[in-house]
Amino acid sequence: MSFAKLTIRDVPVHDKVVLVRADYNVPLMGGKISDDLRIRASVPTLQYLREQSCKVVVMSHLGRPDGDTKLEFSLAPVAERLSELLGVEVRFVDACYGDKVTQAVKAAKSGDVLLLENVRFHAEEEANDSTFAGKIAKSSLARYFVQDGFGVVHRAHASTEAITHFLPSVAGLLLEREVTTISHAMEDPERPLYAVMGGAKVSDKIKVIEAFVHVADKILIGGAMANTFLAYKGYDIGKSKAETDQQETLDAIYEAARAKVGEAGVDDFIMLPVDVAVAGEISPEASRRNAKVDAIGVDDIAADIGDLTIERFSHELAHAKTVVWNGTMGLAELPEFAHGSARVAMTLATTPGMTSIVGGGDTADFALKWDGNGGRSFTHVSTGGGASLDLMAGNKLPGVEALLEAKK
Ligand code: 3PG
Repeated sequence: MSFAKLTIRDVPVHDKVVLVRADYNVPLMGGKISDDLRIRASVPTLQYLREQSCKVVVMSHLGRPDGDTKLEFSLAPVAERLSELLGVEVRFVDACYGDKVTQAVKAAKSGDVLLLENVRFHAEEEANDSTFAGKIAKSSLARYFVQDGFGVVHRAHASTEAITHFLPSVAGLLLEREVTTISHAMEDPERPLYAVMGGAKVSDKIKVIEAFVHVADKILIGGAMANTFLAYKGYDIGKSKAETDQQETLDAIYEAARAKVGEAGVDDFIMLPVDVAVAGEISPEASRRNAKVDAIGVDDIAADIGDLTIERFSHELAHAKTVVWNGTMGLAELPEFAHGSARVAMTLATTPGMTSIVGGGDTADFALKWDGNGGRSFTHVSTGGGASLDLMAGNKLPGVEALLEAKK
């Protein structure tokens, strides 16, 4: 599938100053980075630009500091990790525009990498403020803007949208790979295409479920999302977490599914758990007990798919050629309730010839921890949470739309 935008390979970046937007919104625990997927994923673009003798100026946001300088959201720890990954010192500049930035760029040599401070220390960032974007562009002395922060391209912010009005703007290699891989799975996948959906809420993922009703050959539903579907189907789900206000949405989903596969095929097309793993309370000490979906007790809390469903789902998945997985099958952060998610991960990682795409956010976190190999057991682990959902749902991504078109 061809990518509709120009990339860094298409423009003469050699020897130029290049301003790169990365998404280094990484989890920090006690000031330490607990998951560096997004930093690792940015390396190919930065290496390419270094090899082109560019001066590379990188900017990002981290967290939601609400327009204030809050040092717990400083990008300084990211500069350290990036230095380790690149094998060269990444100079951290504690500003994202102004004289400090300009002086640091002037002092840099070809191939040097600078990381600017969190753009969200300024309220103008989220307001997509043009003057602010102009200041960043001007003080960086950049000749090109490179968008490589896939995780943030669903936001129209100053560093993703307004900035593109000041500099010729192209995509980085991560952005190109994310958009191409996910779009290919949605538009022209190797079939059968199965979607595995889970996570907490149906309401967060309505458009994606609708998109999958149209493009997927089968949809497997687990996690708390399955509770909502089971309750809709009239099952008593005890004290399990579910959304009770999604009646109309589910009506629409089932109507579209019936139109596609017919009444008789619906429950095979949207496959729900036949049993769930329940507990009386959710705690690290709680142990799992399987309950058929028509025998969930009034005090039971469903916290994972049950053992029969785990077998059924993995048997089904083994027939797929492409699997898009978005949402864990239960409370995967508790080992006792991670069995379903672990079996999905294992099936995706070990089925020969399967293209496996793991959506961002909690699912990617789980898959990376399960894998212990940087996610390399899967075809693609997305760095985008909301951005990957928007892309799968067919929504326009403002940070991608704003880039220069590739020639047809
Ligand atoms: C993300 O983590 O999804 C992106 O970095 C965007 O962050 P935001 O939801 O705070 O805009």
